[in-house]
Amino acid sequence: MGGVPIEIIRDIWELYGVRSNPFSSAPILVKGGIIPLECFIGRHEQIKQLGKIFGSKGGSRTLVYGDVGVGKTSFVNVVRRYAIEKGYFTPFKEIAIQSDWNSDVFILNTLAGIFATLKVSKPGSIGDETYSKLESITDVGFSDTNLGLQIAGFGVSHGKDRKTTSHITSFSLTEFFMQVCQEIGERTGHDIIIHYNNTELLSEDNIRDLFENLRDFFQTEGVHFVFVGNLTVKTYFNSIPRFSSIMTDVPIIIEVFTLEEVNELIKKRFEAMRIEDLDYVIPFTNDCLKILFDLWGGNIRHILNSLSTAVQEVTEEKPVVLDDNTLARTLKLVLEKRYSSKKITPRAKDVLMEIVRREEITNKSLSDLLDLPRSNISGYIKDLEESGYVYLRRKTGKDKFWSADPILKWSLLKEKNTIQKSIQSFY
Ligand SMILES: Nc1ncnc2c1ncn2[C@@H]1O[C@H](COP(=O)(O)OP(=O)(O)OP(=O)(O)O)[C@@H](O)[C@H]1O
Ligand SMILES: [Mg+2]
Repeated sequence: MGGVPIEIIRDIWELYGVRSNPFSSAPILVKGGIIPLECFIGRHEQIKQLGKIFGSKGGSRTLVYGDVGVGKTSFVNVVRRYAIEKGYFTPFKEIAIQSDWNSDVFILNTLAGIFATLKVSKPGSIGDETYSKLESITDVGFSDTNLGLQIAGFGVSHGKDRKTTSHITSFSLTEFFMQVCQEIGERTGHDIIIHYNNTELLSEDNIRDLFENLRDFFQTEGVHFVFVGNLTVKTYFNSIPRFSSIMTDVPIIIEVFTLEEVNELIKKRFEAMRIEDLDYVIPFTNDCLKILFDLWGGNIRHILNSLSTAVQEVTEEKPVVLDDNTLARTLKLVLEKRYSSKKITPRAKDVLMEIVRREEITNKSLSDLLDLPRSNISGYIKDLEESGYVYLRRKTGKDKFWSADPILKWSLLKEKNTIQKSIQSFY
């Protein structure tokens, strides 16, 4: 067996005069990350809003919400970056909430986030003793929701003497968290900011329980809690009084960018990632961007992913500038390849296309629209789900809401000017 031919791992982005993929959909991070901070654009009002919240001493609880992939994480990260420059402490990495977290795990992960940042920061933000205690607490594995924590540094003994072994309670964890925050606050002279991501991964019941159990925790003096979630979280927020009553400020909404903003964003990426002394080549015409913008309702994550896929697919030896036709053809081709092994019947395809055209749809609506019995629809859906074409987006009561794999939207792209195209290829 020979090795991988060297050309296969060649970086195509160099051909476009940039150091790395300018269409990466990675978020902008507080420190480091592949997307430079100077690529951040817009959100002026929201920055002011969140800036004011962080600036008011004492603490807060704020929800930042918006559709999937619009730029929520990047937004909060960038505002936290400004806060760090002013002397605030915040765990660099946002805390990614998991669906199975109970209140103890929630606090422990928060402490772990704080510790991870203290560990790589200059010493002095916290006392030595508290640091050691934090280290021993966050050292144990705590992904298990049935925590049986026995931690030496916490004054809990373990071993043979079972009687003196006790679990750390949420109460003592909260107390410890408060102590940590107080120490950091005293030493930095500023409040602390904690950013929780993916709140939507918690079920409504889960959110209710957490906010019930962690009321004191969330009231910690001098701590600003930011919860980031999608539109579903906003709905929960309104329907759980205990959740909304704990919040201090009006939720901040992050909306999709305008076409001008998307243009600016991509331009900035090329500027920031350009290879010194080289001119960069933007690999598509303005028409392409407009088409993708409309296809995805302005969703930046999907626009970037589409461009990234198309450019990687067509680039061989030299830089390519895609026009609307080549873009459509390329993406459709990629789509066909990805699903080539998963054949479906023409009837199932009709059902699929109805789903693709909508954000979500129920079996009932599909059966009304296509004038087919519910049982048939269920059969088609089952096949489509098994092959990965569709997934269950949400369920309320008996209603199941289906959505299609986002890339299937590429099938809606139109190829035009076929006559011109054939003339071109003729010459
Ligand atoms: N204000 C901005 N300026 C420039 N680029 C941005 C901005 N906001 C987001 N982006 C870019 O858009 C993409 C999506 O952003 P991000 O990951 O922050 O979205 P999100 O809403 O947190 O997504 P998800 O719902 O998947 O968590 C990333 O590549 C990010 O770098
Ligand atoms: Mg995010």
